[in-house]
Amino acid sequence: MKSIGFIGLGYVGLTSAICFSFKGYTCYGYDIDKEKIKKLKDGILPIYEKDLDKYFIQVYDKSFIPTDNLKELIENSKLIFITVGTPSREDGSINLQYVEEACKNIGECLKEIKNDYKVIIIKSTVIPGTTENLALPIIEKFGIKLGKDFGLVVNPEFLREGNAVYDTLNPDRIIIGYKEEKDGNILEEFYKEIYKENIPPILKTNFVNAELIKYANNAFLATKISFINMIANLCQTLKGADVEEIAKGIGLDKRIGKEFLKAGLGYGGSCFPKDLEALLSFAKKLNVELPLLEATIKINNNQYYKAIEMAKIELKNLKGRTISILGLSFKANTDDIRNAVSIKIVNELLKEGANIKVYDPKAMENFKKLFNDKNIYFAKNVEDCLESSECAIIVTEWEEFKRIKPETFLKLMKYPLVIDGRRIYQPNEFKDKLIFKAIGYNN
Ligand code: UGA
Repeated sequence: MKSIGFIGLGYVGLTSAICFSFKGYTCYGYDIDKEKIKKLKDGILPIYEKDLDKYFIQVYDKSFIPTDNLKELIENSKLIFITVGTPSREDGSINLQYVEEACKNIGECLKEIKNDYKVIIIKSTVIPGTTENLALPIIEKFGIKLGKDFGLVVNPEFLREGNAVYDTLNPDRIIIGYKEEKDGNILEEFYKEIYKENIPPILKTNFVNAELIKYANNAFLATKISFINMIANLCQTLKGADVEEIAKGIGLDKRIGKEFLKAGLGYGGSCFPKDLEALLSFAKKLNVELPLLEATIKINNNQYYKAIEMAKIELKNLKGRTISILGLSFKANTDDIRNAVSIKIVNELLKEGANIKVYDPKAMENFKKLFNDKNIYFAKNVEDCLESSECAIIVTEWEEFKRIKPETFLKLMKYPLVIDGRRIYQPNEFKDKLIFKAIGYNN
């Protein structure tokens, strides 16, 4: 079994297709966005993701086959991964339209194909019950039967943007949800072949558990972040307190662990905000309360404002003030600005009447598509962004920003107020040289 297909070439689909092509599989990749397919065929990656270009070069025009012909993909693939987006509706609930369409197209095509058992793998994040109650009936409507004519598996993805390649090649664990045992076994064998001696633990379970594991996973991680941000806000009011020390201290407890305890301006991205809202909305329909998640979301919704508060305490009125935003992407090593904290901060500063200068190593183009305001200046580099500024806010933890010295801020800025929204600087190096504020830090 050497040919597999990916329907949907977002971060998950594209990275997986390129990485598995690199591992020796022929990977077909389909997307409804024809422009994206064209770019890929021309050897251009449609997104920035760390290291993806290095792998793309090796599989381009060889084992990775972008196509706008879904039939070609389905006919040629033994495993068909559904990696389409599952965006939010207005009310926060999940929009499963693309999963539905993919299942319909697969069903339509599979009914024509005889004696070729293919396994469909739902990798997209779907609300519990989707595979059993939506995907399966849609496919079987075409007169084909699970276990006889096709296989179906839920296989959630845990890769992080910015580390997508590394995470795809080195997963912590693999979750396989199945109804027909042989389907689970087929996917397990595939992963064993991919990862060989580095195969991580595999948990095989049913559809609904596999679906809920993904949500519970993201909800737990988001809760960890909101927890430490809550403690950061407490630190802010205590003379001498520093949330970085607290995170270090509690992170040493093996039961807690040190990951995802980085206080900052809150989580963003295409996953946590959307998945938590979707889970909450789903539970509400079942009349189940999830108060811990409500609190996690509430803390996160307010967290970005801490940077504005700090600026206001120091500058009083922000009207007409020049404020530099360092970092636009929702995290480092990606150009993705979906649900990025930078958007909330810039909107708030616009409301306050500030003059805004922004800079990001990779996300400028995406940000320009969102904002076309005369009060926003798109800087060429860090220096250009800091020049004549009265307040610099670190919004994304890019390596490039970590290297900026206090002397550089001092030299370029008109008023040397630095707000470290991602805790990338050592307060001791900064606090005596300029006006230094940081999340969870009280000097
Ligand atoms: C997240 C999960 O980490 C992945 O396991 C999952 O596969 C993915 O969602 C998904 O559901 O597709 P991702 O959103 O790419 O991945 O990025 P994270 O590294 O989790 O960061 C999310 C947000 O939390 C970022 O805005 C980041 O700045 C913030 N964060 C993260 C913190 O504020 N503090 C931390 O300690 C960690």
